[in-house]
Amino acid sequence: MTMIDKIKEHIEEAKAFNTKNKEALENFRIKYLGSKGLLKELFTEFKNIPNDQKKDFGQVINTLKTVTEEKVKSIQEELESKEEVKGVYGDLTRPSEPITIGSRHPISLVKNQIIDIFSTIGFNVSEGPEIEDDWHNFTALNLPEYHPARDMQDTFFIAEHVLRTHTSSVQIREMEKGKLPLRLVMPGRVYRNEAVSARSNCFFHQIEGLYIDKGVSFADLKQTLYYFVQQFFGEGTKVRFRSSYFPFTEPSAEMDIWAGLETEENRRLTKGTGWLEVLGCGMVHPNVLEACNINSSEYTGFAFGMGIDRITMLKYGINDIRDLFVNDKRLLSQFSGV
Ligand code: DAH
Repeated sequence: MTMIDKIKEHIEEAKAFNTKNKEALENFRIKYLGSKGLLKELFTEFKNIPNDQKKDFGQVINTLKTVTEEKVKSIQEELESKEEVKGVYGDLTRPSEPITIGSRHPISLVKNQIIDIFSTIGFNVSEGPEIEDDWHNFTALNLPEYHPARDMQDTFFIAEHVLRTHTSSVQIREMEKGKLPLRLVMPGRVYRNEAVSARSNCFFHQIEGLYIDKGVSFADLKQTLYYFVQQFFGEGTKVRFRSSYFPFTEPSAEMDIWAGLETEENRRLTKGTGWLEVLGCGMVHPNVLEACNINSSEYTGFAFGMGIDRITMLKYGINDIRDLFVNDKRLLSQFSGV
């Protein structure tokens, strides 16, 4: 191999050289450009080259010199620019921390599931205010001021207003709009002045249902709720209706689902009956329709109201209602991806 070929090899090697390491770059510089480096050696050698070869020899040495010099300069610039960035912003090339995203609260998950089921059978969604007046929370719902049933719901008062004790108030707001027929579910937070315990909190969540049209019957109510239960709790879930009392419905009922008595948990939750109460319902009382200027001899309707928190607890096996309101990540993170 001639001397010239050897130098050409060095040129190729230098062209291909790259590093992110300052030390390796310095070694490269010393090897070619240092005071005892290869180029120095070659220039010394140059004197001894026969005259007819000087031109070719000189050319390759010069090429090697420019290639190595430029290489050192460009790598140096790159490393410095990275260092500058690092100075101001830290190391931008460092892999990032994994992004932790939040998850929906179990109450929101259950609320959305309930809404989804009712929306497949034509129910729309509506919401009302949490601070209500007496009319919408009580009086229009056939609960006049002297009515003893007002005591069923211990109420928080704010001057002339109340914190709504149930989402039934939203029924009134919707009926007052005067647009019929109505087919709605109405979710929201409600408040009651109750002693806080594992089973009850001073605020919780309900979802109200309302269907007003000509010729709506109790059979429609049962069939609608039956459909809901099969969708939500699973095909074949047993249901029973017990007669009950609410001032705003006549007749009134409560609906239970069969949880069974197999486990200790089932016996505890159902107080040994196997049945779990999930909602109150009934045919909208004519007084309520009339209070909203709806002709009760022309229109009928049904309504129901269920506790979202209770259903959430049943569905996910949460034993203390207060766990739903402390936003402990150890509980909430279990619902990411649900
Ligand atoms: N508002 C009742 C409560 O909070 C629940 C309820 C019962 C709602 C019957 C209704 C209904 O719409 O028809 O206890």
